[in-house]
Amino acid sequence: MNKQQILNEILSGRSLIPAEESVQVFAPSNIALVKYWGKRNSELNLPETDSLSVTLPHCGTTTRLSLSAENQDKIIFNHSAMDKSTEFSVKLSSFLDLFRPKNTFFHVETESNIPIDAGLASSASGFAACVRAVDKFFKWNLSNIELSLLARLGSGSACRSIWDGFVIWRRGEHEYGMDSHGYLMQERWPELRIGLLMVSAAKKQISSRNAMNDTHATSILYHAWPEQVKQDMQHMEKAIREKDFILLGKTAENNALAMHATMAAAWPPIVYSHPLTLELMQQIWQLRNEGVAVYFTQDAGANLKLLFLQESTDTIKSRFPEMRIEKLFD
Ligand code: PMV
Repeated sequence: MNKQQILNEILSGRSLIPAEESVQVFAPSNIALVKYWGKRNSELNLPETDSLSVTLPHCGTTTRLSLSAENQDKIIFNHSAMDKSTEFSVKLSSFLDLFRPKNTFFHVETESNIPIDAGLASSASGFAACVRAVDKFFKWNLSNIELSLLARLGSGSACRSIWDGFVIWRRGEHEYGMDSHGYLMQERWPELRIGLLMVSAAKKQISSRNAMNDTHATSILYHAWPEQVKQDMQHMEKAIREKDFILLGKTAENNALAMHATMAAAWPPIVYSHPLTLELMQQIWQLRNEGVAVYFTQDAGANLKLLFLQESTDTIKSRFPEMRIEKLFD
């Protein structure tokens, strides 16, 4: 089955006739506490392992969708019209091909309140917003699970951006991934905070898509990754169920460092960290030695996301005044 056949199965007879002239939606971004790294099927973004994230409800993408009067898609990102040859437009237009009524083009205006390509999961919120927009545009009323399945076809991590809260993406066993989507965990943790420590907002050297595939293909350490994730998923689910912050922090930090170790062992090597990333890690470890419960996670970029509880906010803020703090459950 290819993407189009999967879409047809999910739509089960729903039409591609626009029901609205224009729609606007928002989808949040998410930060993985146990990472998705490596695919068992790259066309369908089917992962080798489970993963688990927490949603950043105030960071994300707003998308407006209507039909274009021109005979090509018109894509506007953060108020500037994108040339159709940019990577961003090519990716979005080819995803929109799945949902395109015959001989029509889309007008898409999309705004993200997070820097793109900086390892802050902007593609997750972007594809989740796109799927929510088409659902509304055609009035399909798909369930969250169906939206998650569709979002995954755009970008794997997007399948977790359909819910607010802790979301598990089960790898699934089905050959075409009909069971590979997000699930919302019922637990909430209002005291949990994420602090975004920007090291660089520059476009990263290698996309997470390519980095993941290269690691999968060439890194000898990748063989250990599914085992690491299996253990980390158990610990993370327990940490969330029992509100054990130390277990959550330890598991998230170790999982992120293990993911980056698999990349460093790829050839050519993939290293997202900058000197400042390592300096900040040292400072976080120093704070921990001083008794402050703070941990970090790092995605496919140089930036760090700090994990801590509300009670430590002032201490951590005084050490990292430039940090942007996100509440996760309000
Ligand atoms: O969904 P992608 O292709 O943007 O990959 C996301 C990869 C990580 O952010 C590094 C991990 C994750 O689970 O979000």
